[in-house]
Amino acid sequence: MTGTLEIIQPDDWHLHLRDGAAMASVLPASARHFGRALVMPNLKPPVTTTALALAYRDRILAAAQAHSLRTGESLSDFSPLMTLYLTDATALQEIDRAVDTGVIPAVKLYPAGATTHSDSGVTDLAHCEPVLERMQQRGMVFCLHGEVTHSEVDIFDREARFIDQVLIPLRARYPALKIVLEHITTREAADFVREAAGPIAATITPQHLLYNRNSLFQGGIRPHYYCLPVLKRETHRQALLAAATSGSPRFFLGTDSAPHPQSDKESSCGCAGCYSAPVAMALYAQAFDQAGALNRLEGFASLYGPAFYGLAPNTRRLRLIRRASLVPQRFAFAEAALGGAPFAELTEDQSIVPLAAGQSIAWQVQAV
Ligand code: NCD
Ligand code: ZN
Repeated sequence: MTGTLEIIQPDDWHLHLRDGAAMASVLPASARHFGRALVMPNLKPPVTTTALALAYRDRILAAAQAHSLRTGESLSDFSPLMTLYLTDATALQEIDRAVDTGVIPAVKLYPAGATTHSDSGVTDLAHCEPVLERMQQRGMVFCLHGEVTHSEVDIFDREARFIDQVLIPLRARYPALKIVLEHITTREAADFVREAAGPIAATITPQHLLYNRNSLFQGGIRPHYYCLPVLKRETHRQALLAAATSGSPRFFLGTDSAPHPQSDKESSCGCAGCYSAPVAMALYAQAFDQAGALNRLEGFASLYGPAFYGLAPNTRRLRLIRRASLVPQRFAFAEAALGGAPFAELTEDQSIVPLAAGQSIAWQVQAV
């Protein structure tokens, strides 16, 4: 069995970087492994306009440059792609402005109240018809957080309900709109995306490929496995793994790495989001390896995403090696990471716990 795997450099089609020092501290982990990342707009306040998205992009590039100056490690090959946060009031002109920049390929739908910082989200897509019409014309991608938000709907049913109530009517009304159903978690979503008419794809996270909902309750409550949409039962994980490793170009990589400080995760009301950036590629390799499908990793990670977005694959390559290692229990976060605070003295609001913390994983990215 071969111990190394070399693939075209992957892209991350769903990433939360946050802002300020938090962003600067988590950015290197993504920029080391991924050529491009589609950066989510759920800041506070949200990134609702092209001007805000470009300013955010400049802050990310400035943080990459500051990192290089501080550490000597260059992140200059990393290219952030931005998203606009759709609201009931998004102006039509924002679509043209965004497309014309060439670095804002997508608009993001957060149904109001669905997840972290989604309170400005869309209450009803009927408010957005001219905007969706224009996105369809201009080939802009519509990224969907695919969950209904009504509190009476069981949390494990919210994605399947979204497909019936929102996605099927959306597909019918805008047959040529490019749709990405993000971070899918169910057999229903995998089946729908595989079969649906028109341009549609789905991203899949490492946690939804590797874990089922038992991981949330392994000997006690495990907040670092809590994200939205929440982990589902094993049959759904198997359907997602089958979709990811099927070779269908409709399924591609999006980590949904969503950093929150340890103190906000380990709380009486812990935030949703798994911080996977440092280990995501290793975890994807592990999932594909377990499925006997390492030969399908490059398509999923590096080819199908750019193809859907109408971009060329990256030109660099990434090498993975099969070598066991322990995932660190935590990393320094935000100012503490930038200032080099003594690791042993980090408080919980200066720390971030990665996905699979303390676990042994079988693959590593080899430094290039
Ligand atoms: C994300 C976050 O923290 O911003 N959380 C998550 O659980 N995935 C928001 C999101 O993508 O839903
Ligand atoms: Zn997300």
